Formats: sequence, structure tokens, C-alpha cells
Amino acid sequence: IDESVPPQTLSSRTLEGLAEYIKAGKASKIVVMTGAGISTSAGIPDFRSPETGLYANLARLNLPYAEAVFDISFFKQKPEPFYALAHELYPGKYRPTITHSFIRLLHDKGLLLKLFTQNIDCLEREAGVPDDKIVEAHGSFARQSCIECKHPYPEDDIRRHIAAKEIPRCHECKGLVKPEIVFFGEQLPQAFFENRMLPAQSDLCIVLGTSLTVQPFASLPDATRGHTPRVLINKERVGGLGNGTDDVLLLGDCDDGVKKLAEACGWLEDLEKLWAET
Ligand code: APR
Repeated sequence: IDESVPPQTLSSRTLEGLAEYIKAGKASKIVVMTGAGISTSAGIPDFRSPETGLYANLARLNLPYAEAVFDISFFKQKPEPFYALAHELYPGKYRPTITHSFIRLLHDKGLLLKLFTQNIDCLEREAGVPDDKIVEAHGSFARQSCIECKHPYPEDDIRRHIAAKEIPRCHECKGLVKPEIVFFGEQLPQAFFENRMLPAQSDLCIVLGTSLTVQPFASLPDATRGHTPRVLINKERVGGLGNGTDDVLLLGDCDDGVKKLAEACGWLEDLEKLWAET
């Protein structure tokens, strides 16, 4: 039993056991699930960490409650708070972390079946994970359109407005423009529903940097088959991870966790080289 794992968990797999499984070629269809915790070391705050999380710091936007910043009915009345946040979060200012490069390494080794991300920062994409391997379950800043007439809105126009802290308006109907980020109250992208059963075809599930508090994303790790190993690399235990005998908990900073896992698999040099080039 891995001493670093709290006694109450059932999981009996250790990091070494997991590395043996991977080196024996038993993990060739890996599904990865990520959340905001993998981008905090890039400088992007997560949502729910006390003190540093976005929801603890949005008070200055005088919201009725923190998650209103991503609430579609609130946005229609008051788009300013979201655009103030977009000014801070807009892609292009941040460098992917070594955790993002770890996911790209899995792809380069032909082992990545699919990455499900909740993040809207596009850092997995910037780390070189190809588009057809990514499901952006909560959308992203990659595209934007008018919420009234649905007309697509040019990227360089929204980039200019966000940089100037202005509210972009549709060129056709003057309606509000919104990046295709999934707000509370909106449907997840079709790609999520088309791929949500893929974990059942996987032979390894790796969950990175998420509190697993938002459904239906949070149910993805439960869609794996009985004996598929599930690895949680996160500051604290989340979801039901650790309750399965084939679960592995690497609790702590995710950049350290992926380096430990890469080292156990003999991939640390490849990983550090890949990240150095990102
Ligand atoms: N290393 C490991 N874990 C970390 C790190 C780190 N450097 N930084 C933060 N974490 C952990 C936190 O402890 C927490 O468990 O990552 C998790 C982040 O959880 P959240 O802030 O809730 O982010 P996330 O799970 O992505 O939120 C899900 O909520 O508001 C919605 O749509 C939004 O996609 C978001 C969803």
C-alpha cells in the first residue's frame, strides 16, 4: 500500500505499479480530464481555490454571486463583469505548463485517445495537442458569435475590444457578442455528448487539476470500465477517485505529479525537452 495515500482509500495501485503497467504497453488508449488547476502555475487563477481562486476575487466586480460572471441571463443584463474577466484571461498572454506538455507527450507517443478539458485558456492546444484529440467541454475563446442573431464575429475585432476593455457588439444586429464559452444555463458542445462514453474504451484515465464539481463533466471518470486504472493528480482528493482498487492518487502540485509519473515511465528527459521548446 502506498504510504503517501491516506489510509481511508481502497486504491492499492502505486506509482511504480502504474509505471510498470504503462511501460508494459498496457496503456495505449489514455483519456485525460483537465481543469483549471493545470493552468495556475501558468499564472491563470483557478475558480475555487480559497484566496487565490477567481470566485474569491470577483467581489470587485460586484456580482450578486461569483458564478454570475458565467451566467447567461446575468450576462445579457450586465456583460461588463465577463468582459473585465476576459481581459485578464484572453489567450495569448500565457505559456503552457509542463503539465500541458505532458498531455502533448502522451499524444506524441501515440497513447492519447482523447483529452477532455474544462479550461477555456486553449493552453493544451498551444502545447501542441491536436484539435481532433481535444474536447473543450466548456467551450473556449477559440470562436465568438452574436447571442441574438448567431452571426460569427471576427477574432481580431473581439481581441481589440477586449484589450480596450470595450463591449463588442454584433456588426449585423448590434446584439451582444460572446465567445463560445459554455455559460451556466447553456448546453455543452455537441462534441462532449458525442465523446462522453469514450472513457469506457480507455485503458487508463488521468484526471488533472480539477475539483470535479461541475456536471456533466465530473461524471467522466466514472465512465471507465471496472479495472481501468484511474490516476488523480491534484492538490486534494476529489470525486470518487481513490475509492476504486485500481485508482492511484498523486496528491500535490500537478507539475510535480506529472514529472514524477514521467520519471517513473522513463520519459522525464523527453518531457522536459518538449516543454523547453513550448
Ligand atoms: N496543482 C494541483 N492541483 C491544483 C493546482 C496545482 N498547481 N492548482 C489548483 N489545483 C486544484 C485545486 O485544489 C482544485 O481541486 O485544482 C482544482 C481546481 O478546481 P476549480 O477551481 O473548481 O476548477 P475546475 O475544476 O476547472 O472548475 C470546473 O467550474 O466554474 C466552472 O466552468 C468553470 O470549467 C470550470 C468548472
